[in-house]
Amino acid sequence: MSHVMNTYARQPVAFVRGEGVWLWDEAGKKYLDALAGIAVNTLGYAHPKLVKALTEKIKSGVIHTSNLWRIPEQEAAADRVAEITGLDEVFFCNSGLEATEASIKVARKYGHDRGIAEPAIIVMEKAFHGRSLATLSATGSRKVQAGFEPLVQGFVRVPLNDLDAVRQVAEHNKNIAAVMVEPIQGEGGINISRLDYLRGLFEICQKQGWLFISDEVQCGLGRTGKWFVYQHAGFQPDVVALAKGLASGVPVGACVTGGRAKGVFKPGNHGSTFGGNPLAMTAVVTTLDTIKEEGLLANAMRVGDMILSSLQNQIGNVVSEVRGMGLMIGIELKQPCGELVLQGLQAGLVFNVTADNVIRLLPPLVMSEAEGRQVVERLVPLVRAFLDKRAAA
Ligand SMILES: Cc1ncc(COP(=O)(O)O)c(C=O)c1O
Repeated sequence: MSHVMNTYARQPVAFVRGEGVWLWDEAGKKYLDALAGIAVNTLGYAHPKLVKALTEKIKSGVIHTSNLWRIPEQEAAADRVAEITGLDEVFFCNSGLEATEASIKVARKYGHDRGIAEPAIIVMEKAFHGRSLATLSATGSRKVQAGFEPLVQGFVRVPLNDLDAVRQVAEHNKNIAAVMVEPIQGEGGINISRLDYLRGLFEICQKQGWLFISDEVQCGLGRTGKWFVYQHAGFQPDVVALAKGLASGVPVGACVTGGRAKGVFKPGNHGSTFGGNPLAMTAVVTTLDTIKEEGLLANAMRVGDMILSSLQNQIGNVVSEVRGMGLMIGIELKQPCGELVLQGLQAGLVFNVTADNVIRLLPPLVMSEAEGRQVVERLVPLVRAFLDKRAAA
């Protein structure tokens, strides 16, 4: 019996080697990876630039020092994150929930600074923000919350893509300090915010003096063809939460502030022992520089569009919907389809299923068009066979 705590229903496979978008298991079987460790492995596996930079950093002997000292790698990483987000201040942490938790704290502090004794944050149905007590309370899923009550107070939930619901809250609740939105809901089933909705939400925030918090932990960092989804909509949020793809596999998160959120955190308001250490920051700098140098935003857009349109053409008529943006794609079936994950592994394709009935593709941003075509070639027969079997039953 394994001593690993039983918190995940794991598939019976262990990947032990990787190169590009390819993985090998313990028996030497080769797989095409269309999941990237859940949107994490931006540069795929064994990217030479990342291997070199991390190896050199480890050899230097200084992989951790703590935030008691200056960390030049952290300063370099923060400069890059400020540049790509268009915001001003970066707090580095170690995971997505830490990035959203810090964002929630920024919103509360901002509220207090404006004289709101019990600040509240508008959040969306079906959003996922993490599994700490505050972030699971912000998450719009009873499954995530059940058993962990009492929940943290101060969240008001509305449906996604519904500006009237937000306007109504604005009218009746004077405690609101911020809106937190996941512009493309990943765990919730690849639910895409309309760009005019995001712009409308931003306008309401401007008018009300609320912070706009964009949780781009899953959808951000180039996956949709721009660095961030809010850039498709054409405005600058006050807070951006990042993690997953930021360091191509090394655990890093970031809470980035600008606009009205700039300067809200003062010394002593927040901290992290590991956050922003030299090893992790080397991975951030190398990941972001490589995305730029190799034109991976344009690649994500081009390969993503190709996969999306091929899937729409080939199975769009037999599933509920094929939707996505760049290399963030969901195929919604009319029935639960979790068993497809194992069938995918058997066929040498790595993906997962979220929200019970949505096949989720989040490939590394280095995926080529030819590899993208192989994803489609492997996936389509699996979906067809699954649906045929259901129809026959
Ligand atoms: C949008 C979003 N926010 C926050 C999180 C939490 O990130 P982590 O699992 O690194 O704590 C996730 C994880 O899936 C996410 O998708």
